[in-house]
Amino acid sequence: MLRGIFRTKSLDDLLAAAEHPETSLKRTLGPWNITLLGIGAIIGTGIFTTVGSAAAGNYSETGELIRAGAGPSLMLSFVITAVVCAFTALCYAEFASSVPISGSAYTYSYATLGEFVAWIIGWDLMIEYAIGNVAVAISWASYFRKFLMETVGINVPLWLATDYRSAAALRLADPARYKLDFGSAPVIFGQPLILNVLAFAIVMAITVVLVWGVKESARLNAVMVMIKIVVLMFFIGAALWMVSPAGMVKNWTPFQPMGWSGTMTGAAVVFFAYIGFDAVSTVAEETKNPGRDLTFGIFASLIICTIFYVAIVAVFTGLLSFEEMKGLTAAEKAEPLTVALQRVAPAGSRWSGVAQAIVAFGAVMATTAVLLVYQLGQPRIFFSMARDGLLPPVFARIHPTFKTPHVTTILTGLLVGGIAMVASIDEMVDLTNIGTLFAFVLVCVGIPILRYKDPDRARPFRVPFGPFLLPGMGVLSCLFLMFYLPPTSWWRFVGWLVLGFAVYASYGYAHSTVGQLRDRPSKTPISMKVAAIGFLTAAIGLFVIPHHASPIELVQWATQSLAVEHARAMWGLVMILSGLVIGFAGSSRELLR
Ligand code: ALA
Repeated sequence: MLRGIFRTKSLDDLLAAAEHPETSLKRTLGPWNITLLGIGAIIGTGIFTTVGSAAAGNYSETGELIRAGAGPSLMLSFVITAVVCAFTALCYAEFASSVPISGSAYTYSYATLGEFVAWIIGWDLMIEYAIGNVAVAISWASYFRKFLMETVGINVPLWLATDYRSAAALRLADPARYKLDFGSAPVIFGQPLILNVLAFAIVMAITVVLVWGVKESARLNAVMVMIKIVVLMFFIGAALWMVSPAGMVKNWTPFQPMGWSGTMTGAAVVFFAYIGFDAVSTVAEETKNPGRDLTFGIFASLIICTIFYVAIVAVFTGLLSFEEMKGLTAAEKAEPLTVALQRVAPAGSRWSGVAQAIVAFGAVMATTAVLLVYQLGQPRIFFSMARDGLLPPVFARIHPTFKTPHVTTILTGLLVGGIAMVASIDEMVDLTNIGTLFAFVLVCVGIPILRYKDPDRARPFRVPFGPFLLPGMGVLSCLFLMFYLPPTSWWRFVGWLVLGFAVYASYGYAHSTVGQLRDRPSKTPISMKVAAIGFLTAAIGLFVIPHHASPIELVQWATQSLAVEHARAMWGLVMILSGLVIGFAGSSRELLR
């Protein structure tokens, strides 16, 4: 039963397809290119932006606690998250060395857990790569705007560097401030035009570089990685110059001002800062010696970044006391490193302005490098999925001269740039974290399965202590961090997955190359079309329900006619339940074939 959609793809077929001249990529990258791509993907928005709210916590306008702050224990949060990532990194290294082809976790799960799980993972990885990059592009835009202002005095209007919903929230909370910041926005059909055009522009610029070629992009990435490392060291030096180590130690007490809940919530938030070590596995097919170079690159980049993170957070939490951090505004929390320098600078110091401009420049470089690696990774996942027939063949097209997957690169650019114009960064970070942790869980689960199914395969790198202990700890620790993420991101994440079911039922099921070998119908059967409509309805339901509700609250609000969100909860729940019933009923006949 259900063997059809859980049918795995033979690794040798996957490897053979990768060697096919029409659909293969150039092998140009060595171990240090890989390490630099890793660091390029890791250090970015996480350390330059999310540490602010992770350390201070979040409070509502009325002073209510929304998310506990880690305070100085954010150092410990970073170590905890590094350990969680290390378990998964071991699994990635084993997979990348034994299945050295494009596609990352998607490809691994095709070989181990079967077509349907592979589709889900590929679909889920869009959250990590594309939605993650939406967050990074938004963060890039605000730092770039600040950098221009601090250095050349150009003031890019806020309506060109903000999303509409954030501006609308400000209008509610502080109308006077809204008028000041967005009063100059042009009005079309009675609506102010507020779009993050800066974020869109950087994504487009990166897209052009990537269509040009991976080697050139790797070189550009190396330069930017060097710059951001120098800037982070500069931050540490400047901070120590302004505040003595003894002064910093004083701010480290109390170490856990909000206890373990602060430390663990901090760990779940700063997980974003580590995303990226896995991204290097997407260029396996462009690596000269994947067994050696990828394992080296994954671990070298993870270790180097952890050292930097703990050092930066030690200094950052040494500059400001927890009480001072709590007093920061949302905008200040978004640029915590420059704000911390500004707070401790001696009065009237010209140095402080220069130091802030340098750190803002580093943030721009760091986020540019992150954007580059993710915009590089996402098209390669699309590419692999199309090669397997789960997406239309146009997604697997390679440019005849540049040898890059240009169609998917451009498509990814339009998708990420388009969403970045209208989305808010906090929501994008939470969603990225949950989607990525889920992908990590499936990668860890895949290790014992592949060892069992294909024990003789050459594994240049093996997870130590057997296939269960460390991958099992990887699964548990990722689930543990997911637990600390808010219900909002859970609902959206599940909604995205169910939307993925709909796309699979309407296209991938009938077109998959593995499915064709199993004599599936070559056209989507009517029952699968009905299933697709059902899943689509359920996904819409998941997107319209009030996302701050827990599952129990959702049912309560849906059944109590006096509840504030009654109508949304009720109609959403009806769509979810009826959609799922239709979806599973429609697909059951085909799936049981
Ligand atoms: N780790 C990446 C960053 O922090 C996603 O920007």
